[in-house]
Amino acid sequence: MRGGPGSDGGAAFQAASSQTAFQAASKAHFPIPSPVPPPLATPLTLRAPAGPVPLETNLLLAPIAGWCELAWRLTVRECGGVGLACTDLLSPQGLLCSSETSYDLARTHDLDQPIGMQLYGADPQILADGARWCADHGATVVDINMGCPVDKVCKKDGGSKLMCNLPNTFRAFEAVRAALPDRIPLTAKMRLGWDEAAYEAGVACDLAVGLCERGASMITVHGRTTEQLFRGQCRREGIKRVVEAVGEATGTYDGAPNGGVPVVGNGDVRTAQDAVDMITETGCAGAMIGRGSFGNPWIFAEAWALQKKKGLATRDQPLGMISSSLVASGQSPVPSDSARLDTVLAYFHRMIDFRGEHHAMHVIRQKISWLGKTINDGHCKPLKEAVRNARTPDEVRAAIEAWRGGELRKDAIESLANEPRASATGS
Ligand SMILES: Cc1cc2nc3c(=O)[nH]c(=O)nc-3n(C[C@H](O)[C@H](O)[C@H](O)COP(=O)(O)O)c2cc1C
Repeated sequence: MRGGPGSDGGAAFQAASSQTAFQAASKAHFPIPSPVPPPLATPLTLRAPAGPVPLETNLLLAPIAGWCELAWRLTVRECGGVGLACTDLLSPQGLLCSSETSYDLARTHDLDQPIGMQLYGADPQILADGARWCADHGATVVDINMGCPVDKVCKKDGGSKLMCNLPNTFRAFEAVRAALPDRIPLTAKMRLGWDEAAYEAGVACDLAVGLCERGASMITVHGRTTEQLFRGQCRREGIKRVVEAVGEATGTYDGAPNGGVPVVGNGDVRTAQDAVDMITETGCAGAMIGRGSFGNPWIFAEAWALQKKKGLATRDQPLGMISSSLVASGQSPVPSDSARLDTVLAYFHRMIDFRGEHHAMHVIRQKISWLGKTINDGHCKPLKEAVRNARTPDEVRAAIEAWRGGELRKDAIESLANEPRASATGS
């Protein structure tokens, strides 16, 4: 059955697919369809009812529950290239009843701009009230999660379950759009469908087009079904289908203020080249990056510089936030190991500032394996161990400085030299 458990199957599909009327309406609404997809390194523009909201790049930091708190967002932004960052998934009920956890997750800052706040749920009124809360508390953009596969979220008909009952999802989306101030773009992040049957039936295309008809300012598509979770490879051909469906309905997005609605591709972007491939293979307007930023928060700056380098071959462009000399020389902004250590420290200190020592110690011990992935090309086991074993913030700082100063590396080399020869060579 298409649409997975709880789907109302054919009725949902029919309602979502009545595209003739929509196509006629959308032509009036989106007057200048362009056949040309945006070139690389075109910053995204999100169209809100009150006017366009321009972003600095076409690269987005993905919402990742457990990672995308304020401290991490500021740290990644500082590395450059991020057009839009997003909070973790937020419970509108939590925000409305002042839950401390929801407040912590929604907390933002003057430097944390532009910021998307992502809500989950299915109840139109609660989502609308939650969206208004976000608008009143600093959101540049409000996003509705339509892709989360987690039981806790789907059991309440939120997350990916929104892909299973399109009429209800459209009602909720309309309620949220009506509740939001006109200056705020409303966006959605989805998967390719609940399962293979939904993918084959084109549910993601129907959902994306229906949301655009109801005022969506951007659609992000993670190229997997819900049933796939994070298994297998991201399917770029599925993202391309959504790009084409939205382009057909709204006019191809070309970055112009009155062009079509941008579709952003997401999934398995681990390098700057992956981001360029995502854009060129699917025709999407930009790339959203999640796990690829854990060990390398510079991936956005690298991917922007690479797009510029490739784009400059064909046209002159403003240089945005990456230095012109780097772009002209065709180099990515590769940071030194010392700069990488500074970034880990800055992240740690921000966590202490925003959420206290206990939280910061817990998170840094948990995440040092990821954060160390690009330090000394990932060969920094003694650093990771020292941070994991640290009992106080001073011990975390001492471990980082000992690695920077070489003492921890010396220990590592000595212990390797003292090991029996056979084990040192792995034979
Ligand atoms: C641990 C974890 C938590 C996630 N939390 C969220 C979330 O809160 N909201 C959301 O829309 N997606 C969430 N995602 C999905 C990511 O945003 C993204 O779609 C997915 O990881 C694929 O992109 P990537 O390969 O660049 O990581 C999460 C993914 C992971 C692995």
